[in-house]
Amino acid sequence: MDFNFFDQETLNCPYEFYETLQEQAPVYHLPDTNIYMVSRHADIKKISKDTKTFSNNFNHLLKGPEPAPEVTEIYNRAWQPVDTLVTADPPKHKTYRTLVNKVFNLKRVNTMAEYMEKIVHELIDGFIEKGECDFVKEFTTPLPVYVIADQLGVPRKDLKEFKEWSDSFARRLSQLATPEEQIEDAENIVAFQFYFADMIKKRSEEPKDDMITDLVNTVINDAETGEQRKLSMEELQNLLQQLMVAGNETTTSAITSGMVSLINNPQQMQAIQADPGKIANAVEEILRMESPSAGLWRVVTEDTELHGVKIPKESLVMLRYHAANHDRAVFENPTDIDIERSNASDHIAFGQGIHFCPGAMLARKEMVIAFTALFERLKDFEIVEEKSDLNFWPNIVLRGRKGLYLSFKKK
Ligand code: HEM
Repeated sequence: MDFNFFDQETLNCPYEFYETLQEQAPVYHLPDTNIYMVSRHADIKKISKDTKTFSNNFNHLLKGPEPAPEVTEIYNRAWQPVDTLVTADPPKHKTYRTLVNKVFNLKRVNTMAEYMEKIVHELIDGFIEKGECDFVKEFTTPLPVYVIADQLGVPRKDLKEFKEWSDSFARRLSQLATPEEQIEDAENIVAFQFYFADMIKKRSEEPKDDMITDLVNTVINDAETGEQRKLSMEELQNLLQQLMVAGNETTTSAITSGMVSLINNPQQMQAIQADPGKIANAVEEILRMESPSAGLWRVVTEDTELHGVKIPKESLVMLRYHAANHDRAVFENPTDIDIERSNASDHIAFGQGIHFCPGAMLARKEMVIAFTALFERLKDFEIVEEKSDLNFWPNIVLRGRKGLYLSFKKK
């Protein structure tokens, strides 16, 4: 009762709250809601395997409250949402997941490395002479957008619009948009759909080596009907939206908050700069510490019970990945960053089970390439406090800082 999960203070620094939950209320019923928060590492792993009782069919939560008629009218001009991947349960989920696994293969991610390095260096070129930068605006935000756009096959000339559309998806998810912004977001989302409908048509007529071509042309095995078929326009649109939205804010937040942690811990910063071989494990530690997908929903399909707490059918369970990644039963001194932590990769920042993040390989590679280039070319990083806003956005699902402004020296 000492904590209010929704307070800015708790959002910024939830560690005492998490520890209290893990010790005293591992299944915590948030007052005046139908939400049950699960915080222990072992419990989240167990629940993630039980997709029958804990369903991912939370599409209604993503849509938010009923929009105004003029907003609905805009959405009705394009394709309606269907459940693929993150909001789908077995057997439906498998149909799409098999396809995405095929499309997101290691070979494609590896061939992306050179392109990612090029992007990272171009972004650094853009601010290196200034000795300071708006790190979020000039580096961590554009990086994942450029990378996913390129994976999908979006030409560079269209990137500005692509970013605006992506922001609209994120703002729609945050459910904090004003009525005017809701109209703007609907227009952007519909524009995205028509843009991709055109690309889908072009790729089916003239295939290229990109993800859209793979998604458009691969014949899927529909796990529900047993039918062999290509994806419908609704399914394609939904998959493309998820691929576009899921990786942007999360990767931005991981690199931003990782940088803050390193700057605030000079010994760790020194160690990573002295030995780039430590970057890969440091990335795991940053993912553990920051957990940009801080928590995700499950819908309870039948009355159930965990640690003596009765969870009624249709309740919402929040799997608090950020808490699990600070569980003292698994991680020693969990609030300290230790880039050499031997079990850093036991984190569950990418989830668990059938919904485990298909973009994990890509995100990890992107982070390693970003930190490698930053430490290769720059040193003496400092946070410019008066231009930074290190508070976290008020969002229960995503965990990201509002702003980070850095000063540095050229190496
Ligand atoms: C640091 C970056 C990232 C983090 C922390 C992250 C985290 C997660 C988590 C926790 C889940 C599990 C969702 C659940 O439990 O229901 C997930 C699923 C997903 N992620 Fe990521 N993600 C990241 C980057 C990416 C990237 C780069 C992409 C794609 C370009 C991506 C695409 C997806 C998709 C499509 C799903 C749904 C998978 C399914 O339901 O089968 N993510 N991600």
